[in-house]
Amino acid sequence: MGIRIKGTGRCIPEKILTNEDLEKMVDTSDEWIVTRTGIKERHIAEAEQSSSDLGAQAALNALENAGLTADQIDLIIVSTVTPDHAFPSVSALIQKKIGAGKCPCFDIEAACSGLLYALNTAYGMMASPLAYKRVLVVAAEKMTSLVDWQDRSTCVLFGDAAAAVVLENDGDPNTPDFYIAGEVAADGSVSDILIVPAGGSRTPASAETVANKQHYIQMGGPKTFQLAVTSMVSACRNVLEKSGVSPDEIVWAIPHQANRRIIDAVAGKLGIPEKVYLNVDRYGNTSSASIGICLDELNREGKIKKGDLILTASFGAGLTWAALLIRW
Ligand code: COA
Repeated sequence: MGIRIKGTGRCIPEKILTNEDLEKMVDTSDEWIVTRTGIKERHIAEAEQSSSDLGAQAALNALENAGLTADQIDLIIVSTVTPDHAFPSVSALIQKKIGAGKCPCFDIEAACSGLLYALNTAYGMMASPLAYKRVLVVAAEKMTSLVDWQDRSTCVLFGDAAAAVVLENDGDPNTPDFYIAGEVAADGSVSDILIVPAGGSRTPASAETVANKQHYIQMGGPKTFQLAVTSMVSACRNVLEKSGVSPDEIVWAIPHQANRRIIDAVAGKLGIPEKVYLNVDRYGNTSSASIGICLDELNREGKIKKGDLILTASFGAGLTWAALLIRW
């Protein structure tokens, strides 16, 4: 059909918070954080910077990389767990900020799996009779807006960032699609292990919810760790089986950058540790932006060439998980 990744972009806030900085804020150590997570530092957005600000900048960078202008975009899909507001959507705010005309816009909330959910959705809408020609997919996350800076078990893990991918259907039946095979999945029965309890319709914001710190991330770390490994391994195996591609043929494996130990466990079980791209040490867990940042770094550093096979996989709150085998 000719649906290809035409460009990528990212937006990383300037301010860096190191493990040494965190040592001054909570009872932790660089040694503990590096050993348990692989994270050395993370980037933190300014107070006045929102997810749509980060997302709009990533989108403009991706459009420039694609050689396109915002008015050529037919559809915008944004993944985020940190929307600027309950409504309007972040995608509508980004449409306005980048000057994308009146194209349809919507947000997807699939936590850290959001970018892969969004790429699956975008591909489906481009390949269907809807036939969108150029789609902008953005993952924009200000995770620090959900972080309790007094909770050492979560505050060391997250960072802020956005990433974007521009998809284009060139209409040439001889151009192979970027999408080779994918799996998206969820298990709502374990939704309580990773949750921000208040601020939604279940428990609207009140003085009490603020006092009880219910607007911050609450996480069952070890259970999340275990489910992350099993779900990503099974999704990757299913995608490889569906596509008939062997692990040897993969050029890059890009797992969600949440924790170095999770990544090592997944790569070890799949037998592809040498193919893994890593940047969790520099950014921490940027939720759905993480895979997009990896793609953009590889793209801009010239480390991927046309036709390369890239296996991506993610997991996140919900629980959601996904894998997508991409042809560059
Ligand atoms: N610094 C120092 N000690 C810390 C700490 C920190 N930042 N955070 C937790 N600890 C302590 C705990 O209090 C606990 O102490 P105790 O034994 O005295 O009670 C000890 O370290 C072990 O805690 P535990 O939660 O069992 O550690 P762990 O080895 O499971 O590592 C995580 C914790 C969070 C790093 C790990 O569970 C993890 O990465 N889980 C997945 C999280 C994730 O990826 N979430 C995002 C999903 S998208």
